[in-house]
Amino acid sequence: MGDTNPESTTSTTETTPPTEPYNRNLRPGDEGYDIEWDPNAPCMYGSSDAKPNVLITGCSDGGIGSALARAFWDRGCHVYATARDLGKMQAVSSIDNVCMLALDVTKPESIKAAAAVVERQAGDRGLDILVNNAARNRFMPVLDEDLDAVRDTFEVNYVGPLAVTQAFAPLLIKAKGTSVYITSIAGYVTTPYMGSNCLGVYSGLKRALEMLAETLRLELRPFGVDVMEIVTGAVRSNGQTYFGDWALPDGSLYKDIEPVVKHRAQGGDGLPRRDTAEYAAAVVDKILSKRTGAGSGTGSWLTWSGA
Ligand SMILES: NC(=O)c1ccc[n+]([C@@H]2O[C@H](COP(=O)([O-])OP(=O)(O)OC[C@H]3O[C@@H](n4cnc5c(N)ncnc54)[C@H](OP(=O)(O)O)[C@@H]3O)[C@@H](O)[C@H]2O)c1
Repeated sequence: MGDTNPESTTSTTETTPPTEPYNRNLRPGDEGYDIEWDPNAPCMYGSSDAKPNVLITGCSDGGIGSALARAFWDRGCHVYATARDLGKMQAVSSIDNVCMLALDVTKPESIKAAAAVVERQAGDRGLDILVNNAARNRFMPVLDEDLDAVRDTFEVNYVGPLAVTQAFAPLLIKAKGTSVYITSIAGYVTTPYMGSNCLGVYSGLKRALEMLAETLRLELRPFGVDVMEIVTGAVRSNGQTYFGDWALPDGSLYKDIEPVVKHRAQGGDGLPRRDTAEYAAAVVDKILSKRTGAGSGTGSWLTWSGA
């Protein structure tokens, strides 16, 4: 099990933690399964203490979400770590007292179910911090884009955070909390062929997400909810691992430079990538202190809005 959460030694719940380390990947019917400790059933959080409740999307191993979950936990928060596949949260599952929930940002029923668990657990306290982290990386020259793939990316990177925000807004309003959006420097930098051009759709959606956040900032202000965007630079994650079989379509105008673009998609951008845990620690400090400041990840910055 993980190191001790400085704030988690005082339990506010009525359940008694198992004496033996509990494998959070157990399922109903498995030996040792206990409904009270089912990550999809009740979590162990109470609503009567002052620890911030934090929910993060996209917490698969090796990515930014997983590192953020750890960093929030290190600072004594109640952490709801979510992923579309619970089996991919091994790192999070090894930390004591983190509530793991299944949440696919493209599936309304999945979002609703996760929101219901948090509502049940958090009670009158609500949700202090929502981190919209889940997204899909994408590389392709704009002229070569497959429009169905673009629509799918739009669902994950733009509609997803919007749907999650809508579902958790009542809990954020209860807590007068902060809604956070992990955006990207790719939304600001445009380099032909081997740079953000080939991230065209991804870049556009990340920038669009910022416009959504900017509008939400105004619309949520009357209800005491802050909005923060984390404009993220190059950070080590799984983002570059999805393009082993990447190829331009037949007839692409860019066939001559295909190996260069492929190399870029696989992380060959020459950028030193920031350590994921370091990035997460810096970002969580900023979120909890509600301060703007120098960015996290190579070539990045942070913005936030509050009182
Ligand atoms: N790493 C960087 O250099 C960098 C730079 C700028 C911005 N960012 C942003 O940082 C955030 C995290 O990305 P990352 O770099 O950590 O990449 P990552 O390792 O690929 O993590 C992406 C996460 O999003 C999840 N996800 C994908 N589709 C989902 C869906 N439909 N529902 C719920 N979760 C879904 C993935 O789950 P699966 O494992 O199941 O696919 C994974 O947990 C993203 O918003 C990304 O745009 C990263």
